[in-house]
Amino acid sequence: MLDELNQLKDDALEQLAHIWDDATLEEWRVKFLGRNGALAEAMTKNGTLSKEERPAAGKLANETKLALESAFQAKIGAMKQRALFESLESEPLDVTLPGRPVKRGRLHPATSNLRELYRHWGDMGFQVFRSREVESDETNFQLLNIPPHHPARDNWSTFYIADTNQRVLLRTHTSPGQIRAMRELGQNGTQPIRVILPGMCYRYEQVSARYDIQFNQLEGLAIGRNITFADLKGTLTEFAHRMYGDRPVRFYGDHFPFTEPSAQMDVGCIICDGAGCAICKYTGYLEILGSGMVHPQVLRNGGYDPNEWSGFAFGMGTERVAMLKHRIEDIRYFWGNDLRFLEQF
Ligand code: PHE
Repeated sequence: MLDELNQLKDDALEQLAHIWDDATLEEWRVKFLGRNGALAEAMTKNGTLSKEERPAAGKLANETKLALESAFQAKIGAMKQRALFESLESEPLDVTLPGRPVKRGRLHPATSNLRELYRHWGDMGFQVFRSREVESDETNFQLLNIPPHHPARDNWSTFYIADTNQRVLLRTHTSPGQIRAMRELGQNGTQPIRVILPGMCYRYEQVSARYDIQFNQLEGLAIGRNITFADLKGTLTEFAHRMYGDRPVRFYGDHFPFTEPSAQMDVGCIICDGAGCAICKYTGYLEILGSGMVHPQVLRNGGYDPNEWSGFAFGMGTERVAMLKHRIEDIRYFWGNDLRFLEQF
């Protein structure tokens, strides 16, 4: 009996050593460790032994069982290792496989719209002049003929940053950049200027579909020796045609403290082509910008002699331009950071 068990163990381990696939391993397990396997069969013979022989045989039978079971587990581990090495060797990393796609970003509609505007104005000889977003009361208002307590300030209620002697605020329009451009580029009122001034403006507004507390404006400024209202009309009409295609434009009187005379420019409605619709309130025209001849006092504040120099200026809200073009119904979408909106552009 003891010899039989030893033989069985040797046979089992011998066979196990050659096994390297799951099916044969399972056959091996059934054959030796299964309920009707060789070991179980050997153990049933224990009952036929004499009393003296039984303990030693039972002990060896248990040891054999444990040995075979641990050899079986070890084999499973060894087979896993071997399968891993084999797959690493036979299927090396394929570096030519395409990677996982990276989501591409894109320009924000407000940015691409500004860039389109830069392109048209650049083609017409205007360069971009960057002016600060945090302004002084003096530049944002006073040097533009809006002294303290002037009623025009009501249109530009804004955010004050520090209540010092020189009040500091977020600019309410890009027009203070006119003063800075004249002072920086004019060389004491001796050089002509043609610039556009883009950027964020801020107003303390009741937020609605049409008004937000921040928005981009594009200001324009041309200073020269013989600039007339005809230049203003001609240049702005040319811009409208470049930007909106072949549409009628119209000018009519307006008022700004820093331009004289002042005019608003409308463009034939790009939604209904002038036929009349809800967007243009059935007028056939859309408001595009405010403009005017630079006021003599503003020229003086910029360092120019208004007897020799003149100029025109204009300002437009550029999100409005994009809204009309893409039929965006609510200005709040621009800064809401909702990808469902942004991914449409
Ligand atoms: N700054 C004016 C506004 O915010 C627009 C404007 C600019 C008008 C330049 C005339 C000249 O409404």
